[in-house]
Amino acid sequence: MLLRRVFSAATACAILCAGFTACSSQKYPEGSVEYAYDPEAPSLYEEFADYFDVGSAINPWDLTEGTNEYEIITNQFNIYTYENDSKPDHMHPSEDVYNFENTDKLVEFAEQNGKKVRGHTLIWHSQCPDWFFYDENGNDASADLLVERIKEHVTTIVSHYKGKIDTWDVVNEVLDDGYGLRFSDWLRLVGDYDGDGDDYDFIEIAFRAAREADPDARLIINDYSLESNTNKAITMYNMVKAMLEEGVPVDGIGLQMHVGYDTDVQLVRDNMEILAGLKEINPDFVLEVTELDMNCYTWGNEDIEVDLTDEFVEQFDNTYKELFNIFLDYAEEGILKTVVFWGYNDGASWLNGSPAGRVNHPLLIDRDLKFKSAYWAVINTPSEREAQ
Ligand code: XIL
Repeated sequence: MLLRRVFSAATACAILCAGFTACSSQKYPEGSVEYAYDPEAPSLYEEFADYFDVGSAINPWDLTEGTNEYEIITNQFNIYTYENDSKPDHMHPSEDVYNFENTDKLVEFAEQNGKKVRGHTLIWHSQCPDWFFYDENGNDASADLLVERIKEHVTTIVSHYKGKIDTWDVVNEVLDDGYGLRFSDWLRLVGDYDGDGDDYDFIEIAFRAAREADPDARLIINDYSLESNTNKAITMYNMVKAMLEEGVPVDGIGLQMHVGYDTDVQLVRDNMEILAGLKEINPDFVLEVTELDMNCYTWGNEDIEVDLTDEFVEQFDNTYKELFNIFLDYAEEGILKTVVFWGYNDGASWLNGSPAGRVNHPLLIDRDLKFKSAYWAVINTPSEREAQ
């Protein structure tokens, strides 16, 4: 059954050429199939080239030439986000120190290989050094001081990568899970700075500074649960609509999409539809999927070893497949431009280890860098659709 699912005209040749072996490890249930790492396997970004860019979060060590990891990331993806190294704590650890070295390497790698880079992220409440929020006496920074710092931080970083970083997550996770804006230090200290009645001024200031520093970069507001929390999607829609009407240069919304294997795909489609409505205000408005992965555990579950039964793997693969069919629909409408996975192999995913010892399998490539059946389910979606 699994065999039938993974085979299609598009991939049969690659699979047959590479050969396959019966499962010998504990990764798959008995009787299923595990593929050896296959450098000749088709390429995700090439298969989806007519629709959207396909990327991955990576780390500096993935850029070591000659390794399987390097082969996979160059063969499979055409856009990259650093998992941690372009965040405020790494890039701007203290007021006078900017740390560009690692992101420079990613940009150089991208230039040499004809790839794109997403900058993640300029303004975030997490992985952000405290110095931003205090004055020289250790008191809360004044609104003026923090606004100056936001401008300086955004301008310095975005200018450094002018013409080199294609897309910036200008702000990350600024919404609350209930309603409205997250009560972060950015919001608390900057507030309604211009006195016009709204309190998203720190966001507005960051976007305006980013646009000025690199007029050609795509500027994104990125958040999680937008695909599952309809209140949050509506809040995002309303806030971005107001910002667009005021001329704030927001080019698109990033949906992180850290979803579960049992996620409600109809809800994903419906919530994306809400956000896609912003195209009526700006015809060039885009949506991006920025951090896709699929947790094998449900919320609140404390288990550490999921049982990868045939039924489980089938549901997991189908959810991935249905998501990609939704992505293809939105790409055909001209609004979805990018799909980035949060990592590329299960062993290195941030979803392992919490709670301690947890083994997770959220991606398309397993711990041994072998392509999973989910990889084939996903990569076949464009050809299956075109064959219909
Ligand atoms: C995560 C990284 O994957 C981890 O390595 C790090 O310890 C914490 O941050 N939303 C985001 C990402 O925007 O930056 C987060 O990345 C995952 C959730």
